[in-house]
Amino acid sequence: MSLIEIKNVSKEYIIGQTSTHALRDLSLQIDEGEFVTVMGPSGSGKSTFLTIAGGLSAPTSGRVAIDEIDVYSLRRDRLSDLRREYVGFVFQSFNLVPYLNVLENVLLPLAPTGLPAKQQASVAEDLLTEVGLYDKAKHLPGELSGGEQQRVAIARALVNDPLILLADEPTGNLDTATSESIMQLFRLLNERGKTILMVTHNPRYRSYSTRTIDFRDGTLVGDDAKNVQQITQKDTDDLARAQFEQFHRHSVQSAEEIKRR
Ligand SMILES: Nc1ncnc2c1ncn2[C@@H]1O[C@H](COP(=O)(O)OP(=O)(O)O)[C@@H](O)[C@H]1O
Ligand SMILES: [Mg+2]
Repeated sequence: MSLIEIKNVSKEYIIGQTSTHALRDLSLQIDEGEFVTVMGPSGSGKSTFLTIAGGLSAPTSGRVAIDEIDVYSLRRDRLSDLRREYVGFVFQSFNLVPYLNVLENVLLPLAPTGLPAKQQASVAEDLLTEVGLYDKAKHLPGELSGGEQQRVAIARALVNDPLILLADEPTGNLDTATSESIMQLFRLLNERGKTILMVTHNPRYRSYSTRTIDFRDGTLVGDDAKNVQQITQKDTDDLARAQFEQFHRHSVQSAEEIKRR
């Protein structure tokens, strides 16, 4: 069973007289525990894919299931529950609230959960420790480096302990050394069981992931997992053909025997 199943998904943006096909009849499955690098040129549909896969924006047609739940058939309030439960988002531009301190930023997604304040603080502090920022808990985002801000954003994305972490060019605004440390953090999170989908332009970071998919003009033109599937499919076809031929030979023999009698 796949954790995320995308079936015949298309997305068309219409602005005035112009329409853009951001995704065209996309089908793919992502299993729990995968770390998928999403690549492709600017405008190829990567961000659209991520937001649709994460329950943020409905496709024009097609179906998205997370943990076998048909995401876009849910009522609006159930959809936000599902997002909160299953998905954490990390963006290129960190998106921290500038007037809240680090701890308060990480606590934000817990506000609607009704978890006791003490428990909320303990979860957030554990995560800040994990991303190496416990001692900056009372700082404002503006007092942190880019890499530190992204670590806060990652802690915030994880505070509900979602199964899935979606990251859209998370290292796009960071220098090489800082990016490497963010990638190591992602790898660690993946090793601990998070399913990760990450858009990046840097082919170096493929090595941290378990699978790479590649978009052009809203369609998938590459998928390392698919190669495996295609081989399996071919094997299945070969087996079916061999079985059919055997059956056919057997039928012909039987028919000839019957005629001879
Ligand atoms: N909200 C939007 N309204 C209209 N067009 C959009 C919107 N978002 C994306 N697009 C268009 O859809 C296509 C795919 O965009 P996007 O998914 O952002 O690609 P990528 O992340 O690979 O750069 C582009 O042509 C883009 O201009
Ligand atoms: Mg994008």
